Amino acid sequence: MKSSAPGKIILFGEHAVVYGRPALAVPVTQVHADVEVSGSSRTGIWIDAPGIDLHAEVNSIPSDHPVASVIHNLLFISRISPFPSLDIKITSSIPVASGLGSGAAVTVALTRALSSHLNYLMADEEVNSFAYEIEKLHHGTPSGVDNTVVTYAKPVYFVKGQPIETFAVGDPFTIVIGDTGISAPTKESVGDVRKLWESDEAKWEKVFDEVGEIVKQARKAIESGKMKELGALMNQNHLLLQEMTVSSPELDNLISVARKAGALGAKLSGGGRGGNMIALVEKEKAPDISKALLYAGAARTIITTVTTA
Ligand code: PMV
Repeated sequence: MKSSAPGKIILFGEHAVVYGRPALAVPVTQVHADVEVSGSSRTGIWIDAPGIDLHAEVNSIPSDHPVASVIHNLLFISRISPFPSLDIKITSSIPVASGLGSGAAVTVALTRALSSHLNYLMADEEVNSFAYEIEKLHHGTPSGVDNTVVTYAKPVYFVKGQPIETFAVGDPFTIVIGDTGISAPTKESVGDVRKLWESDEAKWEKVFDEVGEIVKQARKAIESGKMKELGALMNQNHLLLQEMTVSSPELDNLISVARKAGALGAKLSGGGRGGNMIALVEKEKAPDISKALLYAGAARTIITTVTTA
């Protein structure tokens, strides 16, 4: 049984989303995690994940390893007994720890491939809430935005704890994603924002409200195809992320390079401190802006088109 799940980027609202404000996130189908589950001639559950150099029987690796925890928890909830012998092959083209949702994509693809192989049917909603529980094991207090976009593979207007809401894209638009190449754990930047919030709740609640307003306006701009407005909103959102201390000199540099090369707007995307920035660009300018980012030191760029899935 095979399953595939896309990467994702957050367009607007990261960090404030942890405090109940909305965020906009979209799938990035150019990169994906792929999982194949089949019966094994060897006894046990054998994982072959060359990308992370993991070739092992599930019980020989720590039970809190992200891949092992999906397998153990799924076998537990599906009450399959005795445990079957399986070969699980995991590959992924999604860069890790860079805000592209690689962990959530592996979890979702593995959950679907494994549950289908076991004839334990899971609706999207169940896959999503299972993946959220797994995200919580590894990321502390995630909002759930990653697993939601990756599960449904659609643009999502996400509010923590609320039913999934997708939105229409008036006119497809192009985003250039630039990776700083610096791996930055989201858990740390989320923890640091929490410390700021604890030190002055009133101030940060106001900042999060401002982000929330930007997100609502951005959704309208996307629905009505107003790209200039959308670019300006990206720039405003980035200023507030800088205020939250989650940008970095490398992110700021790539963002300024993208703007100078003609992007309509740019901001960091995801947890920050490293990982990715995104730039809204006119389609024909995408290759040049991508080159400018690489020249300025980006480890990798991805050009993606956002459409209504
Ligand atoms: O770094 P990413 O793309 O996984 O996104 C983190 C987004 C945050 O809002 C910072 C945290 C969260 O759980 O939503």
